[in-house]
Amino acid sequence: MEILEKLHQEHEEVKGLLAKMCDTEDARTRSELFSEFKTALVKHARAEEKALYDPIIKSEGKDAAMDAREGYVEHEVADKLVEKLSRARNKGSEEWTAGIMVLKEILEHHIEEEEDEMFSSAREQFDDGEREKMEEKFEKEKSKVKA
Ligand SMILES: [Fe+2]
Ligand SMILES: [Fe+2]
Repeated sequence: MEILEKLHQEHEEVKGLLAKMCDTEDARTRSELFSEFKTALVKHARAEEKALYDPIIKSEGKDAAMDAREGYVEHEVADKLVEKLSRARNKGSEEWTAGIMVLKEILEHHIEEEEDEMFSSAREQFDDGEREKMEEKFEKEKSKVKA
């Protein structure tokens, strides 16, 4: 498998979990879904930075590198909100609902930009074989992340 296909699969998983969390008000269900979501998201983001963003920053033109740098910042923003939602004791509250809805918007927008802009740059810059190697790197980085 090549990296972009893998990243797309994981984006769909993350979007699915976000939709499920927004669909229920049950605190226990949300809590279970959230821990699954948090692990998936954190592993995905850290490995994506190493396996996709860093190679783009190193070898691409200025615009593509800027997209990757913006991606890093968007990950940071999402991480902060994830930590806040993770600490909240009552995941059934309206405040938590507002937080998860904003996180869903941020991440959906982030994923859309990633798949539109960064994926096209990566397809131009890296051939099939390179993108397969990048997928191996992605898996290796994921296994190192403690989440
Ligand atoms: Fe991603
Ligand atoms: Fe990302």
